[in-house]
Amino acid sequence: MRLLITGGAGFIGANFVRQTVVERPDIRVVVLDALTYAGNRASLDSIADRIEFVRGDITDAELVDRLVGGADAVVHFAAESHNDNSLARPWPFVQTNIVGTYTLLEAVRRHDVRYHHISTDEVYGDLAAAAPAFTENTPYNPSSPYSASKASSDMLVRAWVRSFGVRATISNCSNNYGPYQHVEKFIPRQITNLIDGVRPRLYGAGNQIRDWIHVEDHNRAVWTILEFGRIGQTYLIGANGELDNKSVVQLILTEFGRDPDDFDHVTDRPGHDRRYAIDASLLRTELGWEPRYADFRAGLAATIGWYREHETWWRPGKADVETAYAQAGERVL
Ligand code: NAD
Ligand code: DAU
Repeated sequence: MRLLITGGAGFIGANFVRQTVVERPDIRVVVLDALTYAGNRASLDSIADRIEFVRGDITDAELVDRLVGGADAVVHFAAESHNDNSLARPWPFVQTNIVGTYTLLEAVRRHDVRYHHISTDEVYGDLAAAAPAFTENTPYNPSSPYSASKASSDMLVRAWVRSFGVRATISNCSNNYGPYQHVEKFIPRQITNLIDGVRPRLYGAGNQIRDWIHVEDHNRAVWTILEFGRIGQTYLIGANGELDNKSVVQLILTEFGRDPDDFDHVTDRPGHDRRYAIDASLLRTELGWEPRYADFRAGLAATIGWYREHETWWRPGKADVETAYAQAGERVL
């Protein structure tokens, strides 16, 4: 099997590429990645000689057509992925997430190639505290330019399945954590702040809830869907990992042996979604997937260990990220 993986130098994509190469050595992997600020070739160092890496943009129709034409399946991770960036500068989100997905869909349509679309639970908007978790039937209601662009891309996939018979599946996953996540994101930002002797930064009151899943569990679910999922079907991926942001920061502080209240409240994110929660019953019952990382605290401790041991990987981007947050107006409350 020849597999084209877009965004394979990003957080989830790079974990997927490494897992695939190690666990399925018979698969020929081609990575297409533009190496934006979020992409890092070093994330693929350990398996660099076992893949083909193409630096290029998913909106480049000619390049995409050639690569898709040589593949049996495409797994599409590439995206602009950070909500805060989408609030400061929405255009790259429209370009990459919508136009990029359109470009891939047209290529898989021309070449009749199997396509799996990686999406997010954020397309459903947010939930009140006591509301039931998102299911595959929850109406779309995105809040940010990021989630609106992902919702748009999902809609394109659904239309290409129905109108053109494209053999596609979609997965909408909750918040991932684990190694190789960019330091702009919540958990790596707090870990690397603490390594640098800076207090963690909690947006607003810190009572927003996210449904955490280890990146390896997400990626195993993607493989399960790619192999056994029903064409045209959307599957939600989540591991019952609901936790409020303040509790996450306090767990990180505790792992560092610090006072759990040793953090700062900072300016809140505009339009901040209150709660995400996934009901992954369909994936569990129909396809038999189960997460392996049941203990968030243990997974978090391992992730902290990884950042402690891989400073050369994250250090180059750290100062720029903190400067960008300051320039966007973040201040201690
Ligand atoms: P990331 O920002 O870490 O990585 C994105 C990758 O895409 C980078 O390597 C970047 O260079 C590449 N890229 C960006 N624009 C490109 C373009 N125009 N052409 C080619 N490559 C381009 O993102 P991530 O956190 O790994 O997320 C991967 C996917 O999973 C995204 O589609 C995201 O929406 C989705 N998702 C993420 C999470 C999460 O918690 N991180 C949860 C659910 C779904
Ligand atoms: O739900 C899936 C989504 O999860 C993915 O689609 C996105 O690509 C991914 O970035 C993530 O989105 P969030 O906005 O939930 O993740 P982020 O890491 O930016 O923030 C997690 C929570 O922590 C959120 O409520 C905002 C808060 N936060 C974030 C940062 C960076 C803080 O309190 N302090 C911070 O410094």
